[in-house]
Amino acid sequence: MNRYFFVAPFYDLLKRISFGDALNNATINYMSELSEYKDFLIVGGGSGISLPQFNQDQNIQFIDSNASMIARAKKRKTNAAVHYHAIRFEAFDTNQKFDVICFPFFLDLYNQNEATSILDRAKSLLNDSGRLVVTDFYSIKKLSNWRQKLLLRTVIVFFNITTWHRHSKIFNIPNTIKASNFQCINLKEFANGMVFASLWKKAEH
Ligand SMILES: C[S@@+](CC[C@H](N)C(=O)[O-])C[C@H]1O[C@@H](n2cnc3c(N)ncnc32)[C@H](O)[C@@H]1O
Repeated sequence: MNRYFFVAPFYDLLKRISFGDALNNATINYMSELSEYKDFLIVGGGSGISLPQFNQDQNIQFIDSNASMIARAKKRKTNAAVHYHAIRFEAFDTNQKFDVICFPFFLDLYNQNEATSILDRAKSLLNDSGRLVVTDFYSIKKLSNWRQKLLLRTVIVFFNITTWHRHSKIFNIPNTIKASNFQCINLKEFANGMVFASLWKKAEH
């Protein structure tokens, strides 16, 4: 059974209690900028908070391994054509190439080596002129303020208990994306520097 099964009904509420609108604002930060792009892959999309941002010319493959999250996402109003997949990304089989791939609070579920494999797969699914959008937490090490460290630790411990979230240590995600041969176009901080939203393209050699 998926680790988010039990927390799905109140996951959005927990996010809001802990961080207000900051996590959702980070997730949708680049959506208006990407309105000309057509084919999107959203991985670990949860209850689909970004879906209302899309227009009628956009096609979305929306993946989440938790059927309960997918059921919630299906209730969101959106103008885009959305195909929902209750499946693990690792098992998602496709020949399609995408203009944009989004990882909203998804890479932190993995350790650094696993995330590198996920990023390699993303690179192979992305068109050469495509964009990668990653929203996630910074590693606790990067935070200078003890209150932020405490809040992030508390959130991680809480989600470990409620969702069997595997990793209590979040690695340096932006550096790992860079090391996977992506070039950063833009990075913006949210939640007083605890969270980043970032836009990437394939690095040119
Ligand atoms: C931290 S939650 C983020 C949800 C949403 N993106 C948000 O920001 O509210 C991670 C999501 O990834 C899903 N998930 C976990 N492992 C997955 C996998 N291997 N493939 C696809 N989705 C997965 C979980 O069910 C959960 O909905």
